[in-house]
Amino acid sequence: MTKPGTGTTYIPLCVPEIRGNEWKYVKNCLDTGWVSSVGEYVNQFERLIAETVGARSAVATTSGTSALHIALLVSGVQPDDEVLVSNLTFIAPVNAIRYARAWPILIDAEPHFWQIDAQKVRDFLKDNCRYTRGELRNRRTGRHVKAILPVHILGHPVDIEPIVSVAREFGLPVIEDATECLGAKYRGQRTGTIGDIACFSFNGNKIITTGGGGAIVTSNTEWASRARYLTTQAKDDQVEFVHGEIGYNYRLTNIQAALGCAQIEMLPQYIEKKLAIASRYEAGLKVSGITVMPEAPWAESIFWLYTVLVEEEQFGMCARTVLKKLEAQGIQTRPLWQPMHRSPVHRNCEAFQCESADWLHARALSLPCSVGLTESDQDYVVKSVIGMANGGASDV
Ligand SMILES: Cc1ncc(COP(=O)(O)O)c(C=O)c1O
Repeated sequence: MTKPGTGTTYIPLCVPEIRGNEWKYVKNCLDTGWVSSVGEYVNQFERLIAETVGARSAVATTSGTSALHIALLVSGVQPDDEVLVSNLTFIAPVNAIRYARAWPILIDAEPHFWQIDAQKVRDFLKDNCRYTRGELRNRRTGRHVKAILPVHILGHPVDIEPIVSVAREFGLPVIEDATECLGAKYRGQRTGTIGDIACFSFNGNKIITTGGGGAIVTSNTEWASRARYLTTQAKDDQVEFVHGEIGYNYRLTNIQAALGCAQIEMLPQYIEKKLAIASRYEAGLKVSGITVMPEAPWAESIFWLYTVLVEEEQFGMCARTVLKKLEAQGIQTRPLWQPMHRSPVHRNCEAFQCESADWLHARALSLPCSVGLTESDQDYVVKSVIGMANGGASDV
């Protein structure tokens, strides 16, 4: 790929792929005037999402972040409650907990598959909380612990069964942040159906996109209708504009849903392409100091954002230097998100044994992995990385 207007090589990290029925469906919205938050594409997209995930209901939202906000409210999180959440994540789920005026408890990642550490979730609940008369309270703060929000990062599922199991012991709902994980499976079951409620994102960098958008998915029909109510301004009377509580304008538009309907038709092909990209990187990046992206025994990852670890001592330079050198060669890469316990806005939140997140953050580098990535562009990335090993001494 070349950078528009420059003629120089530019391989972006992860950009949308528009090659299906997008034009046709969006044109249909424009031709009929159904452009806003009511329309057949919204209903159709919700049906397709529910079907794809394997849940009873889906409620389309303006973003993954708004989906998370509503999922927290629907599952009973109230002001001043606490919610256990992944520390190594994009900031949105942690912000969403604050939107609900609750407090995040940041739980470390495990170092092998980089997901929230299920053992640490259990340890925190068992050792740091008190469970009496059906109420779970943080011993230190005295606050109610009300939910667990594991984030499946990078397209790879969390080891979620042990989390659901400890959640059941304490009567906590599990809210899956599956925004990066549409189509992945945990022990044969789709992510987003293992907890009580799940959220997806259709932001531009996700495996399918609506430009911006999200969905709440659940098999709890009561929760689904409450989510629909809250995302559409909590209107009690469609004619008289009577609103029973403070709702939100979080509904996806018909134009965005039209894009989504076209994109979701391509999902199997796009997942296949992500897997092919992962295999090619795995085969190509056999060099000391690079750890390719792992896949746990419980997982069928979609390898949404292909990420490696760079070990400075063996590779000859650190991940940040690799990033800069690749940028100079027209290749966009990115480190993982700053762990939440380091974030200026969340660093005062309680964090539970977060050393692995720091270790991973220092080493992780995401490589170009758009669905449209060509094999020759990918080979150029591989060659560029290999050529840097041990200060560029390699002649590969
Ligand atoms: C883990 C995670 N959670 C939540 C979100 C929020 O989704 P959105 O950007 O659609 O609000 C994203 C990404 O964008 C994400 O990566």
